[in-house]
Amino acid sequence: MELDCSSYPEFCRNFEDYRRSLTKQCQILEVPCPDEHAIEVSYQLAQRVSQQIHFHGKIPFSEFMQQALYAPGLGYYSAGSRKLGVSGDFVTAPEISALFGKTLALSVQQAWQHTTKNILEFGAGSGRLMCDILRQCEADSCLPDTYSVMEVSAELKQRQQDLLRKELPHLYSKVTWLEQLPQSFDGVMLANEVADAIPFELLMQTEQGLTQGFVQTDAQGFSLTFTPTDFSRGWQKRHQDICQQWPDGYLAEAYNHRSDWLSALLNSLNQGCVLLLDYGYEEEELYSPYRPQGTLQCYYRQKKHSMPLTLLGLQDITASVNFTQLAHQALDSGAQVLGFTSQAQFLTLSGIERFVAQDDDSDTMSSASIAQQLQTLLMPNEMGQNIKVLGLSKGFSGTVSGFNSLGKHTV
Ligand SMILES: C[S@@+](CC[C@H](N)C(=O)[O-])C[C@H]1O[C@@H](n2cnc3c(N)ncnc32)[C@H](O)[C@@H]1O
Repeated sequence: MELDCSSYPEFCRNFEDYRRSLTKQCQILEVPCPDEHAIEVSYQLAQRVSQQIHFHGKIPFSEFMQQALYAPGLGYYSAGSRKLGVSGDFVTAPEISALFGKTLALSVQQAWQHTTKNILEFGAGSGRLMCDILRQCEADSCLPDTYSVMEVSAELKQRQQDLLRKELPHLYSKVTWLEQLPQSFDGVMLANEVADAIPFELLMQTEQGLTQGFVQTDAQGFSLTFTPTDFSRGWQKRHQDICQQWPDGYLAEAYNHRSDWLSALLNSLNQGCVLLLDYGYEEEELYSPYRPQGTLQCYYRQKKHSMPLTLLGLQDITASVNFTQLAHQALDSGAQVLGFTSQAQFLTLSGIERFVAQDDDSDTMSSASIAQQLQTLLMPNEMGQNIKVLGLSKGFSGTVSGFNSLGKHTV
């Protein structure tokens, strides 16, 4: 059922009011204003979310985030903005350097010695990682039997297909885009910076106890309200236990949707392994007293801030991954933990130096120097330590060199 215009909150009742509200947000954030088309898409999304809030009174933060990122045709990942890469809002490892995908290809090939030669990549972004892996596998005469992609964004799926057609047209038929998880998959599953894009809840410790974040509207825009909810069951119960130590005002995220995602993924894995790479921590470090504001971050044109209710549908919203929770979920789903380490350790032990020596690939390298790319991928204050790699397996007797280390972290 549609609302009539007068029922929308003032800030999105008409296009001009919405443009003013968005312009003000840009001034506060000190970022350039979006173009007319982007404002129009954001305006439609604001009306859609306002309507949802009108019917429910308020919606959980995770639902707001789901709409902001994935509302069909309107959300950040579903509409046409540039998103990834230096000309977009943020960069990921495959966008920085082909060295990343080439090195992952070595790990995948190693894993194939103990499983079927298939790859299933989740959230393939621009398609860059897929192309780099396929190119390396071809160079090593070790192409996969199948390469499948699970991508929730129709816009990104199109971009992945265009990139593959442009760069490796002869391998196009190897790749299949799936609409749903396979019933039974044998091979290697990959997900780079996917878990951190899956919606989460916000929690705050207060004098009344633990509260959950909901989004509501007022005349000026969207706002957050924290209210006590039933923490006696389900994911809430788990957090009630974790949060006991938190002082009043402590803000954090809860990641139940990510556990559900992992559980579905592992249900689909019959035999083989999974490599999950993402910004994140072990639970104790994630919910430490030194992180009283949580880890939520938004990205718009390379500017990082923590105001998720602004720039609706025009910015990425993300938060660190709780790797301990994912590892526990894996064990509950009948999988084993193959290893857990930093990206720097993983890439180094997997043999990234092999490619540094042969600087013969200028067509696939970005214009930045190899040294700069390596620095971003490996240095502790950049992706090297901030991104972790969690390896999971089912019925898999092999090893992956990236995890072979005395200094290996536990999770
Ligand atoms: C931050 S981007 C990372 C893209 C790419 N992996 C890279 O490293 O450049 C997140 C990607 O995950 C996708 N995504 C989010 N949730 C997903 C899900 N549940 N299943 C599959 N893809 C998902 C997004 O559409 C997007 O392609």
